[in-house]
Amino acid sequence: MAPPPSLLLPLFLSLFLQSCRLSTSALPSLAKRASLSVEDPGDVLVSPSGAFSAGFFPVGDNAYGFAVWFSYPPCSGAACTPVWMANREAPVNGRRSALSLLDSGNLVLTDAGDAGAKVWSSGTSSPSTAELRLNDTGNLFLTNGSGGVLWQSFDSPTDTLLPQQPFTGKTCLISARSRYNYSTGFYKLYFDNDNVLRLLFDGPSISGVYWPYPWSKDRFLYNSSRIAVLDPLGRFQSSDNYSFYTSDYGVAATQRRMTLDFDGNLRVYSRELVSTVWAVTWEALSTPCFIHGVCGNNSLCSYDPTKGRSCSCVPGYVPKVPGDWSAGCVPDFTFSDGCVTDEIRFMKLQYVDFYGYDYISISNTTLAKCRQTCLSLCKCRGFQYSASGSGGMSDCYPKIELLNGHNLSSFTGEFFIKVPKNKTFTLDQLVKRSQYTCPPTPEVKVLDRTYSKKRKNGPLNFMLWFACVVGGIEMVVVFLVWFFLIKNQQDVTSAHQSHLNTATGFKRFTYNELKKATRNFSKEIGRGAGGIVYKAVLPDDRVVAVKVLSTATTGEADFLAEASTIGRVNHINLIRMWGYCAEGNHRLLVYEFMERGSLAQNLSSPELHWKRRFDIAVGTAKSLAYLHEECLEWVLHCDVKPQNILLDSDYQPKVADFGLSKLMDRGKVMNSGFSRIRGTRGYMAPDWVSNLPITSKVDVYSYGIVLLEMVTGISPTTHVDSLESGGDAKQIRLVPWVRNKMKGLGRTGSRLEEMVHPALRGDYNLKQMEGLIKVALKCVEEDKNARPNMSQVVEMLLRHENDS
Ligand SMILES: *[C@@H]1O[C@H](CO)[C@@H](O)[C@H](O)[C@H]1NC(C)=O
Ligand SMILES: *[C@@H]1O[C@H](CO)[C@@H](O)[C@H](O)[C@H]1NC(C)=O
Ligand SMILES: *[C@@H]1O[C@H](CO)[C@@H](O)[C@H](O)[C@H]1NC(C)=O
Ligand SMILES: *[C@@H]1O[C@H](CO)[C@@H](O)[C@H](O)[C@H]1NC(C)=O
Ligand SMILES: *[C@@H]1O[C@H](CO)[C@@H](O)[C@H](O)[C@H]1NC(C)=O
Ligand SMILES: *[C@@H]1O[C@H](CO)[C@@H](O)[C@H](O)[C@H]1NC(C)=O
Ligand SMILES: *[C@@H]1O[C@H](CO)[C@@H](O)[C@H](O)[C@H]1NC(C)=O
Ligand SMILES: *[C@@H]1O[C@H](CO)[C@@H](O)[C@H](O)[C@H]1NC(C)=O
Ligand SMILES: *[C@@H]1O[C@H](CO)[C@@H](O)[C@H](O)[C@H]1NC(C)=O
Repeated sequence: MAPPPSLLLPLFLSLFLQSCRLSTSALPSLAKRASLSVEDPGDVLVSPSGAFSAGFFPVGDNAYGFAVWFSYPPCSGAACTPVWMANREAPVNGRRSALSLLDSGNLVLTDAGDAGAKVWSSGTSSPSTAELRLNDTGNLFLTNGSGGVLWQSFDSPTDTLLPQQPFTGKTCLISARSRYNYSTGFYKLYFDNDNVLRLLFDGPSISGVYWPYPWSKDRFLYNSSRIAVLDPLGRFQSSDNYSFYTSDYGVAATQRRMTLDFDGNLRVYSRELVSTVWAVTWEALSTPCFIHGVCGNNSLCSYDPTKGRSCSCVPGYVPKVPGDWSAGCVPDFTFSDGCVTDEIRFMKLQYVDFYGYDYISISNTTLAKCRQTCLSLCKCRGFQYSASGSGGMSDCYPKIELLNGHNLSSFTGEFFIKVPKNKTFTLDQLVKRSQYTCPPTPEVKVLDRTYSKKRKNGPLNFMLWFACVVGGIEMVVVFLVWFFLIKNQQDVTSAHQSHLNTATGFKRFTYNELKKATRNFSKEIGRGAGGIVYKAVLPDDRVVAVKVLSTATTGEADFLAEASTIGRVNHINLIRMWGYCAEGNHRLLVYEFMERGSLAQNLSSPELHWKRRFDIAVGTAKSLAYLHEECLEWVLHCDVKPQNILLDSDYQPKVADFGLSKLMDRGKVMNSGFSRIRGTRGYMAPDWVSNLPITSKVDVYSYGIVLLEMVTGISPTTHVDSLESGGDAKQIRLVPWVRNKMKGLGRTGSRLEEMVHPALRGDYNLKQMEGLIKVALKCVEEDKNARPNMSQVVEMLLRHENDS
């Protein structure tokens, strides 16, 4: 058995405090008549283990909220994870504001700006003693000193629920306004009057419940205890009989939080203690366009995994407020009253549906009757007509509002929208798109504060952060040692196993089946860090690749959870996983088989002509952009290289081995140091090798190297002899070498030729080649912030698609 983390806590804390000694040391508690000042960076309450901190948290320029946040990873930009805030709506000044515990026992937050105005208070009183403490669960609480709790932050969550924090009929989660604006937004998680846990969009003019879907029948309506809890191992259980396991269920040394994000999705994030990244391990809605309020009235939400969500007006309509899709679209035409037959025609929109606002629903009817119903109803704006199955008859839903529209290729029905007869619309006429992309920098707004801002304590701040980063690294080392000494064995209950089996959906093979299919592992087709790959033929004649993981001795539950995550990932440029086997010590993965092998095997082949190379570059970029989906850094590949890019019969690329880092043995991870779990020398970004946080930019770097290798044929893993001047056997490095050649471009013009792969025989598109190399060089910038993200790479490449 592993010791409970609490045994390590004192050590942890002392290390933390020691490292942060440069600053005023953090406080364990706040007594009566004491206060925390916004001006002193050391005025921070820290939980006994150091996991949580509470103090003033910057929410804008000269604007602070009193918040509880995860101490590690150190807070910077988007990595900040406040889990509770006292004054979301009314941030306080950066000077003289304070949180004080009054003699009366009331906890008050005052803003200096307005002559000591009270911004927030706990409303408590305690004639005897009172003390403010921060628990290791993340609960900030006011105690009367003898076990009584006067007030606690767990009773009034903001947008985040922590493990063990009860979510009751009296509490709710409300999302933040936007990624960097912590004030209350429009989405709400709450127990409804019928005892069901729901997600609600509560916008300025409209509202609507969007989760669970009305047709889902898995909720129990009659348990009025209204309580839900996420447990520390990753199981969520609600009194309406809804429950789920996170995909990393069972891993104890992990921090978790359930957050109602500003985009309206409810997600569970997990962070392994050795990692700096919060990974999404569960989300309520896998179809982001089902979330209400994304696009306003009369507009359509579409979702593209590489670009996120976007909105467009339905034909005939124009944006009401250009740039603000939540305002929706307004008609660009007028009807005399909307039911004059001569004026109206219906335009068919495939894949389109609008949620709710049905005037009536008519089942088992014909298209003509449905059309007539909408035509004669003046306020009908269009109708949905979808097959119910029986002989050409379908269901009909005339709508009086076009709200919550989405364009999903999975929707089988059709939508007919009322438009004027004497006007023609094409689908893309008037359709303007706006992408919900991640803002590159926090959009901080200067709040209108009455108190003037004075010089900030810059150098001290820097030193504090520096010290804390050092402390953080030390903490990581302590944890590594802990992991290494005590093997983290998970005890897996059989109930849990069977749950994962149903959840994974794809096939679980027995070891004997795979042994037979691979003819006793006779045909080896590849070998990599993860293990050996064999060709196999399944009983149904499918040819597959079976990967035998050599170092995977992870617990079965972890393995199943990860495998199921990978199994759910589906993109045309990613290798499909058909199944897995976990039996005793055997861990095998079953993938689709790629007849052309890997890019590495084909690099020198003349078959790989320029167009194919360019397509491989684009396809690979798309798949990585998909993996890094919506800025969540959900799956980092961490080992992008030609060996992991496989080619199908048409030479279309499929990226393999993604998600594998999570399947590898944790013991092994510890041996090699945490930042060297995966990655291949030559393809690894500098930030990967140093101890900087690992972000999706490490994949961008590796991808850039792959592009350079594809173009030049020079591998970054072998030291190549100089191809220059007389074959002098000095060694060159790929990136500087290419950069140097590109410098000459334009002046001499011919230096590009010197580096192009001989297999191309000089037959390539010069403009595309130049474009590709420029993109590649951006990707391999030393500074990770200078590198583009993968969706930007896709866009840049596509701009060169039609170059001639
Ligand atoms: C503090 O945390 C401990 C467990 O770590 C828990 O038993 C206790 O109830 C918590 N107290 C409060 C007030 O949250
Ligand atoms: C503190 O609160 C507990 C529980 O409410 C109560 O039993 C106890 O008497 C209180 N102690 C003091 C000193 O007020
Ligand atoms: C209601 O839910 C609670 C909490 O999940 C559970 O303990 C209780 O047994 C449930 N009651 C009924 C009648 O199902
Ligand atoms: C709760 O769900 C379980 C399975 O998930 C089911 O067996 C049980 O009957 C459900 N209980 C109620 C009260 O619906
Ligand atoms: C939606 O747009 C229609 C047409 O412009 C308008 O009549 C209606 O009031 C709008 N509904 C909402 C909820 O904004
Ligand atoms: C649908 O209507 C047709 C013809 O009116 C009828 O034969 C059929 O039984 C109906 N189906 C259902 C499911 O009501
Ligand atoms: C819906 O999306 C498809 C592509 O997924 C597109 O071809 C079609 O034009 C879209 N329809 C509308 C009405 O935007
Ligand atoms: C279309 O018909 C409407 C209503 O009859 C009229 O007001 C409008 O001017 C017509 N538009 C065109 C382009 O003919
Ligand atoms: C956050 O959004 C609210 C509502 O739009 C706005 O009033 C507030 O000024 C914003 N805060 C910041 C820091 O941008």
